[in-house]
Amino acid sequence: MMITIVLVGTGNVAQNLFQAFYNVADIEVKQVIGRNENHLSFAKNKVSINTDFNQIPTADVYILAVSDDAIALVAEKFKNSGGLIVHTSGGTALEVIGNQNRAGVFYPLQTFTKGKLISFDDIPICLEATNKTDLHLLQILGKSLSKTVELLNSEQRRTLHIAAVFVNNFTNYMYTIGEEICAEHMVDFKLLHPLIKETAAKLDDLSPKESQTGPAKRGDQKTLQNHLKFIENKHQRELYTLLSNAIKCKHG
Ligand SMILES: NC(=O)c1ccc[n+]([C@@H]2O[C@H](COP(=O)([O-])OP(=O)(O)OC[C@H]3O[C@@H](n4cnc5c(N)ncnc54)[C@H](OP(=O)(O)O)[C@@H]3O)[C@@H](O)[C@H]2O)c1
Repeated sequence: MMITIVLVGTGNVAQNLFQAFYNVADIEVKQVIGRNENHLSFAKNKVSINTDFNQIPTADVYILAVSDDAIALVAEKFKNSGGLIVHTSGGTALEVIGNQNRAGVFYPLQTFTKGKLISFDDIPICLEATNKTDLHLLQILGKSLSKTVELLNSEQRRTLHIAAVFVNNFTNYMYTIGEEICAEHMVDFKLLHPLIKETAAKLDDLSPKESQTGPAKRGDQKTLQNHLKFIENKHQRELYTLLSNAIKCKHG
């Protein structure tokens, strides 16, 4: 059975989803809709593109890959479409789509950037829907892209999203500080890449708690004090102290 979808949005997630669905034989991306024509160029000459939210084609599923704050507003435009309307947000409840019985969530748990299109094979896709038939439809869509499809309610999804902010967004901010410190002292940040990769790879065999190393874990006071003396930036010093204390607490 051919499933038709309309993709709404032109950003990181929309471009990655477009690329993925476009290559699935049993799924037809009927149209990509976005408010800015220039941002739709990624789909141009491949499928129909549209900037008019009042001229919507019929489809089985409308995937709203738009900013969290715009989901409710954009969903309003699709409420009479007759199709299933889903958003792609980890931190947004299903109800934000509106009080209709054909709403759902199609949340791919990964970090996406429009300049880097990635495979969905190993990306967990977290699904929710107001009715069973639509959940089944989303399962077919999810399985067409990924080996891992999970049914999660809005609270479970929010839990994962908060954990994701810690393990991904905050960790990446730490990389940013590391890069700044290296740049200030003319050391190549790339030398840290194998360390970053091994830290993540350790999770295949060990829990994060078991994997923890470093001066705070060991209780090496001299090294901690030396580091704090060396770090000139007040904000970086505060973070160093806060995180070192948290690690000391956890590892007694
Ligand atoms: N990036 C990730 O790693 C990631 C991962 C999983 C889930 N998500 C979720 O996926 C969704 C999209 O995220 P993203 O990273 O792709 O965002 P993004 O790159 O910032 O793109 C946001 C899209 O929303 C559109 N938009 C914003 N306000 C709008 C409005 N009022 N009317 C119509 N369109 C509007 C933007 O249109 P313009 O081009 O006109 O500005 C743009 O196409 C969010 O719900 C996010 O939580 C993101």
